[in-house]
Amino acid sequence: MSDLIKVSKENDVAVITIDNPPVNALGPGVPEGIGAAIDEISRDPAVKAAVVIGAGRTFVAGADIKEFGKMTSGGPRRSLLPLLLQIEDSAKPVVMAIHGNAFGGGLELAMAGHYRVASPSAQVGQPEVNLGIIPGAAGTQRLPRLIGVAKAAEMCTGGKPVSAREAATLGLIDRLIEGDLLAGAVSFAREVAAKPAPKARERTEKLGTAEENAAIIAAARAAASKKQRGLKAPLAAIDAVEAATKSPFEEGCQVEAKLFTECLFSDQSKALIHVFFGEREVAKIPDVPKETPVLPVNRVAVVGSGTMGGGIAMVFANAGIPVLLKDVDEATLDAGMGKIRKNYASSVQRGRFTQAFVDERLNLITPVLNYNKFSEVDMVVEAVFEGMALKKTVFMDLDRACRRGAILASNTSTLNIDEIASATSRPEAVIGTHFFSPANVMRLLEIVRGKKSSKEVIATCMQLSKKLGKIGVLVGNCRAFVGNRMFGPYRREAQFLVEEGADVQAVDQALVEFGNAMGPLATGDLAGLDVGWRIRKEYRHLEKPGIRQPFAEDRLCEMGHYGQKTVRGWYCYDENRRPSPDPELATQVRKWSAEAGIPQRQISAEEIVDRCVYALVNEGARILEEGYALRAVDIDIIYINGYGFPAYRGGPMWHADTVGLQKVYARICEFHQQHGELWAPAPLLKRLAEAGKTFAEFDKEQVAAA
Ligand code: 3HC
Ligand code: NAI
Repeated sequence: MSDLIKVSKENDVAVITIDNPPVNALGPGVPEGIGAAIDEISRDPAVKAAVVIGAGRTFVAGADIKEFGKMTSGGPRRSLLPLLLQIEDSAKPVVMAIHGNAFGGGLELAMAGHYRVASPSAQVGQPEVNLGIIPGAAGTQRLPRLIGVAKAAEMCTGGKPVSAREAATLGLIDRLIEGDLLAGAVSFAREVAAKPAPKARERTEKLGTAEENAAIIAAARAAASKKQRGLKAPLAAIDAVEAATKSPFEEGCQVEAKLFTECLFSDQSKALIHVFFGEREVAKIPDVPKETPVLPVNRVAVVGSGTMGGGIAMVFANAGIPVLLKDVDEATLDAGMGKIRKNYASSVQRGRFTQAFVDERLNLITPVLNYNKFSEVDMVVEAVFEGMALKKTVFMDLDRACRRGAILASNTSTLNIDEIASATSRPEAVIGTHFFSPANVMRLLEIVRGKKSSKEVIATCMQLSKKLGKIGVLVGNCRAFVGNRMFGPYRREAQFLVEEGADVQAVDQALVEFGNAMGPLATGDLAGLDVGWRIRKEYRHLEKPGIRQPFAEDRLCEMGHYGQKTVRGWYCYDENRRPSPDPELATQVRKWSAEAGIPQRQISAEEIVDRCVYALVNEGARILEEGYALRAVDIDIIYINGYGFPAYRGGPMWHADTVGLQKVYARICEFHQQHGELWAPAPLLKRLAEAGKTFAEFDKEQVAAA
């Protein structure tokens, strides 16, 4: 038997243990080992039934995702189907004992067993769509037979796991086992040893009528096209589930296999697999090893109860961490707490949280007007107005009020962390924690490393991000950090395009069709055009003379059109914040452009996308070369989680790799010629393009050199 699979005996019940840390993925050797174990058991007259269980923290997290890259680059195609048939056809009942997760191929393996038992805390699911693929080992065929077509379609298209308890009510789990899972599974196996072993693939009672199924499948397609816009895998998963309703099991498996292969070889799947590993890669910081000690964060304080401070307080409370929330006066603090309450109330209304959960979280937030209790906290997040003088004053106060060892973090979106740190006597304790709005919703947390931020402080914030349900990405301390620094050129180009003759709606529409959650101009209206306007006014003295600057948003702001908050910006808004085109805007912009001598022309959707997206790529390449992002994939993860960039394109840098850096570089050179210095190609992009390399290869070289 291989090291990955161990067989032991509990009298007449064989126990097959899958031991492939960390998550028992079905990598090379695992299916072979399970197959050999089933063979061995079939030959052993003393064995009446078998239990399959996972060692360590989980049952089986699925196929080994690393293998997919090998398959798409010419490696052998591995299929689990023969093993699953072998298990299902075993004359001796096989009981799958699930703890942790049975995901993807893990659930498919479990469904090939004759029975499934689980710890109540376990989760099961078919999350393959998150990787741009569909279940490839008969998941789309056995699941509808076990739990019905509607729920199977939902699980295979949405990718969300279900709890063992729900799975038990669905009929996917035969028994929940409190306490010792193995002992419970063995005794269950004994109970069923003498009975004929039921095979999921032979069941039909949950496959509805043709009419019922047609309606379910049509509704699933409509929902997937809307909720998972642009993604191909959910629609392929529905096709495969539909095949289960129309064809015998074997034919359904063939349909599934064909769709699986098409998805696996798609750019979307490659991008989403890049994102899966990228989300784990960003946690790895070369000079802050895993063993770096972390500081306890059991109580925190937030300074400023405005838009961000209120949201950040909720993030901590939601993670069960008590928060002091400070503002300058009673009225402002009351308003801040009022917004938090309203926010929570709407979560209860939408069914996201229960009232009891919300009451508990609200109890964790204590509004305060002074620093008296700050000596008790382990970390402070400052979220006061964006202004260096004010931030420094607050940090001087924090330096006095907080105990040594406490982390002093700033939520600044543009200011220099080192300068803020210089206001304290402990710059090593100072760091940026840049949350994104709305803080309680957005997953990204840019963690900004100051020159003197200590490794313990960095490691603590990275670990804390996970606890807060965020994805923490470490960035360097350049102006606007990584995400917003790139967003500048992106939105600049969107404005230029309008100034050159493109329609506002055409610009937004082109980027929405590209896959972005929102267009760049509508995003400006949402955030408030005045925010950028104020910053631009502050930094105007730094602008180089003779370099083109966008003017349209400044003009809109001068007219008091700040976006959604003033019901007018790039669009007009009704009382429900629904946008409609501004009937006067096009004429106004044309007039401004004529005054500025900007010739008007027809602009294609392709140019709109290239100008905006390549502006991101070019700035990203500079950031990478300057070392403000550790890897290209860090930039991708920032853009997907903080800026609504489509995950199925893998982030801006991966997208550029997919298009081909030579092609991207050539297009940027064209823009450079047409539009001047702002489009000077980033030296790293030029070098990689000329060497025929990719950003992904650059990342690998960086990792190897570290
Ligand atoms: N294949 C390969 N490696 C995997 C893996 C998998 N299926 N699942 C997790 N890993 C790796 C991670 O990359 C990570 O490696 P690292 O430590 O080197 O960075 C390590 O296992 C631990 O993973 P996490 O950090 O994610 O650990 P968590 O405890 O936070 O989460 C988990 C565990 C919930 C299982 C999560 O890892 C997960 O969701 N995994 C992916 C599950 C999945 O998508 N399964 C379907 C695969 S496709 C499939 O099965 C096709 C089939 O239909 C044929
Ligand atoms: P805001 O204007 O909504 O709130 C700021 C709050 O700070 C106000 O309630 C104010 O009374 C309070 N305040 C001012 N001085 C204080 C002091 N000495 N002690 C306690 N409270 C004080 O501002 P917003 O939008 O929440 O921004 C806060 C910070 O977050 C800024 O640095 C901003 O750049 C950053 N940020 C903002 C984002 C956004 O989308 N609004 C996104 C990411 C970061």
